[in-house]
Amino acid sequence: MRAVDIIRAKRDGLPLSREAIDTFVRGVSTGAWPDYQTAALLMAIVLRGMTADETVLLTRAMVASGDRVDLSGLPGIKVGKHSTGGVGDKVSIVLAPVAAACGVIVPKMSGRGLGHTGGTLDKLESIPGFRTALSIEEFLAALAENGCAIIGQTANIVPADKALYALRDVTATIDSIPLIAASIMSKKLAEGSDALVLDVKCGRGAFMKTLEEATALARSLVAIGTSAGVRTEALITRMDAPLGRAVGNALEVRECVETLRGRGPAALTEIVVRLATHMLRLAGEAATEDEAAARVRHALASGAALARFGRMVARQGGDARLVDDERVLPQARGRTPVPAPRSGVVVALDAERVGRASMLLGAGRERADAPIDHAAGIVLEVAPGDEVRAGAPLMVLHHNDARPIDEAGRLAAAAVTIGDHAPPSPPLILDWIRA
Ligand code: URA
Repeated sequence: MRAVDIIRAKRDGLPLSREAIDTFVRGVSTGAWPDYQTAALLMAIVLRGMTADETVLLTRAMVASGDRVDLSGLPGIKVGKHSTGGVGDKVSIVLAPVAAACGVIVPKMSGRGLGHTGGTLDKLESIPGFRTALSIEEFLAALAENGCAIIGQTANIVPADKALYALRDVTATIDSIPLIAASIMSKKLAEGSDALVLDVKCGRGAFMKTLEEATALARSLVAIGTSAGVRTEALITRMDAPLGRAVGNALEVRECVETLRGRGPAALTEIVVRLATHMLRLAGEAATEDEAAARVRHALASGAALARFGRMVARQGGDARLVDDERVLPQARGRTPVPAPRSGVVVALDAERVGRASMLLGAGRERADAPIDHAAGIVLEVAPGDEVRAGAPLMVLHHNDARPIDEAGRLAAAAVTIGDHAPPSPPLILDWIRA
């Protein structure tokens, strides 16, 4: 099949056949399709969309472009997790050891931060010595021994996505539910889990700004997983304000340890407990929601989840003294509070602005190859609904000397809206999508 015919068919709104989709993905993977033809087809997909069947075919072809991890040597039902990403989203670092402490095997491949959202790998690498680049053999051994491990994707997991994503990033073709769904699910299916729990973030700090968009994405992700024989469920969770109080790598790891001690922020704990509950049920570790939730809460309260986290850190080369002494984490030299401009009630705390301010302090990167400062970030002193007095700190910027902080300070201050009346507080968990 000729590339130009496939592009023309999609341009004219026709569904693509399996052969056309396979030809496209093979062409991208082998380099046989030049970037201009790949970009033209991507734009046609953005404008014309894809049916559910086409999206499944695209995902399958993408998975087949590389390796699939074989987890069959590990006992039981392996349950993966994915979040579409948000500001302060540190859920995986808490969730993996919590679920593992309850008997679930959690093989987790994560990504790095880009733009205003952070990445789990960067957060974990703020722990001195922590290695995220394990070989598949090391990954399997860590899972067999400890039930959870969090690593970066190996080079040959869905190479087609790496090529496609790089091109989408520079051709304004990221924003397409079928392309996003195929990109996410190809990587999740290649990880080889038997079941998947997805956290689709929705709101000001998320990729999906509205509940309608988040629901469409969640449905597409669940349909793809289900058609591949992987039991897949998605929670849609609110991401208007940052999740928890810490934004920035080492600061977030510190908050994870607090949460594993049972003293974390309520919203973070709630999402961890809900996702872990679903994971236990999908893994057959609990017969009912209530039983699963009770086991998860016990794992947090008893210290079992914290101990499991310590073992994961040690197994991956990190300094496990972190479990008892958070001072092993890097700390920024500078601390600058952002004062409230007036007294009143915090009406809104814009996650995207906080994320961007944190990035300007060095905690995130604008380009995929840029370095980051693990110690930098922001600790929020207020949450929506809190009363504040003029001059009291809204948040504290953590920074090292090399960075000008004026712009970050302005952006951080602009993230907070102070009014006279407490805002309504919509639920944190907005929906639960399953097949
Ligand atoms: N995350 C992904 O992995 N892929 C996308 O296309 C968008 C977000």
